[in-house]
Amino acid sequence: MAPFRFDVCVVGGCGHVGLPLALAFARAGLRVSVYDTNERAVETVRAGRMPFLEGGAEPILREVIGRTLEVANDPRMATEARQVVVVIGTPVDEHLNPTFHAMRRFFVELRPHLVDGQSIILRSTVAPGTTQKVHALLMSLGLDVRVAFCPERVAEGHALEEFATLPQIVSGCDEQAVVLASELFRRIAPTVQRLTPLEAELTKIFTNVWRYIQFATANQFLMIATDHGVDFYRVFEAMTRDYPRMAGLPRSGFAAGPCLFKDTMQLAAASDNSLLLGHAAMLINEGLPNFVAKRLKQRYPLARMRVGVLGMAFKAESDDPRESLSYKLRKVLEAEAAEVLCTDVYIQDPTFRPLDEVLDRADLLIIGAPHREYRAIEPPASTPVIDIWNLFGKGTALV
Ligand SMILES: NC(=O)c1ccc[n+]([C@@H]2O[C@H](COP(=O)([O-])OP(=O)(O)OC[C@H]3O[C@@H](n4cnc5c(N)ncnc54)[C@H](O)[C@@H]3O)[C@@H](O)[C@H]2O)c1
Repeated sequence: MAPFRFDVCVVGGCGHVGLPLALAFARAGLRVSVYDTNERAVETVRAGRMPFLEGGAEPILREVIGRTLEVANDPRMATEARQVVVVIGTPVDEHLNPTFHAMRRFFVELRPHLVDGQSIILRSTVAPGTTQKVHALLMSLGLDVRVAFCPERVAEGHALEEFATLPQIVSGCDEQAVVLASELFRRIAPTVQRLTPLEAELTKIFTNVWRYIQFATANQFLMIATDHGVDFYRVFEAMTRDYPRMAGLPRSGFAAGPCLFKDTMQLAAASDNSLLLGHAAMLINEGLPNFVAKRLKQRYPLARMRVGVLGMAFKAESDDPRESLSYKLRKVLEAEAAEVLCTDVYIQDPTFRPLDEVLDRADLLIIGAPHREYRAIEPPASTPVIDIWNLFGKGTALV
């Protein structure tokens, strides 16, 4: 077998998961290739710039690009790599079901560019059983490759610090797949934890579903407290202060983003649609923008008011708008208010307004994403600020 030019190829390596991973491998001295079909992102990365915000990533990119990291929209990048990590998106479809057909199409198209003896590592969050299905598919396509599943568990925006501190879960369809994947991830992770593929798939998906349910619990409590005319954060502070058993209760907020909702729906689909906690969490979290709008309509003459939404990203200090509930809030409010003005510190969008203009013109403000920059705002004293995240530590202002 000819020696491989690269130790590892990251397919989907210009995305939010793939690029930090490729950088971590390249910084660890591995020879890394990236194959990504997003031409614009490929050009940006080649120029040494990050296509999105990721803590500490750009200096590393500038250090490794053209040295230990090569990037192209070219599937042959995968051919020349000993191990191929796949991090393409794994969304649910319009019926909220996992999309294995997309995974199948992806591998059928990549097939001519894979070679016997390679190790294929799935890293996207997948429905239980997917790794074994991919293994069977690749064998049916006549390939003699190892197949592993090594889920991504770091928080978007903090990947490079978290790789160094979190254990990496490693699983594979045979012993060699596990050995090779373990060797790879030991280069960037402090420890590896070995599981079967099914155990690893469930570990990752349960983690995301648990997170989603935790947020839903806080959001449900917020709605109940508000309906009783009580500010939720008076209760939250009392529940959690010096009371370690409540340390797991997160703050309320617009719980969304590219993972939690869709992974909860993936697990529901894999559980005969009887994931009662998951479906309840979905109804609560997705219903929060409507709840906020309804409360505001009861308290204010919204139809004559201009509402400002501060923060459109799905979480604080992020430029990622994917599946952000601030957009749902905007839509709901547009049907009720005279005007809705949106702004975000990190996202460029021609429909957004500068922060100063929103602070100046809005009759009512809502914190959509709790970016730290908003702590310093000074809106007119007469402008209510609705703060379901308790960014200012003064309560929600919903009652
Ligand atoms: N974003 C997160 O915080 C996070 C965390 C853990 C797991 N995940 C999982 O990782 C997966 C990827 O998420 P992401 O946020 O990085 O998505 P993303 O959209 O940011 O990145 C995916 C990348 O894959 C590329 N791509 C798509 N199809 C391709 C193909 N056929 N060939 C080559 N490249 C292709 C896209 O151009 C894109 O750059 C998701 O399925 C998600 O479940 C995401």
